[in-house]
Amino acid sequence: MRALTGIKPSGTPHLGNYLGMIRPAIALQDEGYDCYYFIASYHALTTMKDPAKVREYTTKIAATFLALGLDPEKSVFYRQQDVPEVTELAWVFNCVTNMGVLLRAHAYRTACEQVGEDHEGRINAGLFTYPVLMAADILAFESDVVPVGKDQGQHIAICRDLAQRFNYHFGEDTLKIPEGLTQDNVATVVGTDGRKMGKSYGNTIDTFLPRKKLRKAIMAIVTDSTPMEAPKDPDNCNVLSLYQAVATPEQVAALRQRYLAGGMGYGHAKQELFEVLDALLAEPRDRYNELMAHPDEILGTLEEGAAKARPVARAVTDKVRNAVGL
Ligand code: ADP
Ligand code: TRP
Repeated sequence: MRALTGIKPSGTPHLGNYLGMIRPAIALQDEGYDCYYFIASYHALTTMKDPAKVREYTTKIAATFLALGLDPEKSVFYRQQDVPEVTELAWVFNCVTNMGVLLRAHAYRTACEQVGEDHEGRINAGLFTYPVLMAADILAFESDVVPVGKDQGQHIAICRDLAQRFNYHFGEDTLKIPEGLTQDNVATVVGTDGRKMGKSYGNTIDTFLPRKKLRKAIMAIVTDSTPMEAPKDPDNCNVLSLYQAVATPEQVAALRQRYLAGGMGYGHAKQELFEVLDALLAEPRDRYNELMAHPDEILGTLEEGAAKARPVARAVTDKVRNAVGL
């Protein structure tokens, strides 16, 4: 079974990325999946206009995956830009995608809401066709599963529809239809303000914050004003929501009990969350800091990955070209 996923170099990896996507992706590697994981550099260009930042985030994301256990001997790890077959395929897929599908896509719709009236003047065509490039990323590698957070569900659905339509026109067995893979307890990790954790909301906690800063960030999570003595609602708390994503079922049950019983302040729950997270992240954080001290080695690893990835994507691209008559 093959797994594939990507992440844009458009920010420093946060706990939403880690819990929602990176951890499940690395678990698949450890279960023996044939993994293709990549940095979606072309996708980042839809929003990023600062070359130094694109490079910085690329290195940080790569170091994050490696620190968290991605093994380049087992998994193929590369930058999207180093596999040009993907953009070649995206063109062909653009030609079998209706505008209507893209007009309904979330990333485009959200951008329209943000810019107001003048969306035709202020949204680039790359953002508009974003889901097509993502479909090419996935279909180029004939992936069986795509581990992602819930927010990517629509993109996966567009990819599946595209592949089915392509096969209908050009031959049933040309493209492999992938499945999205999203874990329930981390489908949408909440941020410090209770909305989905995401870099555009300014509510993120970076995965590898130094210990003290991690504690400070956790202490700043928004809670309601239920007094210390009163019982608290375990199903409506940003702290507990994050806790259930990282603690054992027993730990979660125990903390829920203390919410219901009252007599415990949110500060205490935050401290528990901090301790569990810190225990989980301390070792990878050290590895991350070591890796970040040698960015050239990281780039070397990504280039070796691309050399393994390209022949796979080339074979699929040739099959597609042949199918459409090129
Ligand atoms: P952001 O939302 O901060 O821009 P990305 O869109 O780059 O993050 O997300 C990269 C990956 O991390 C995707 O698979 C996405 O589904 C996952 N992800 C991001 N934020 C969350 C979250 N809050 N909960 C679960 N998964 C998330
Ligand atoms: N759209 C994804 C995100 O915003 C990133 C991405 C690009 C991706 N290509 C992909 C994810 C292919 C999975 C598979 O997070």
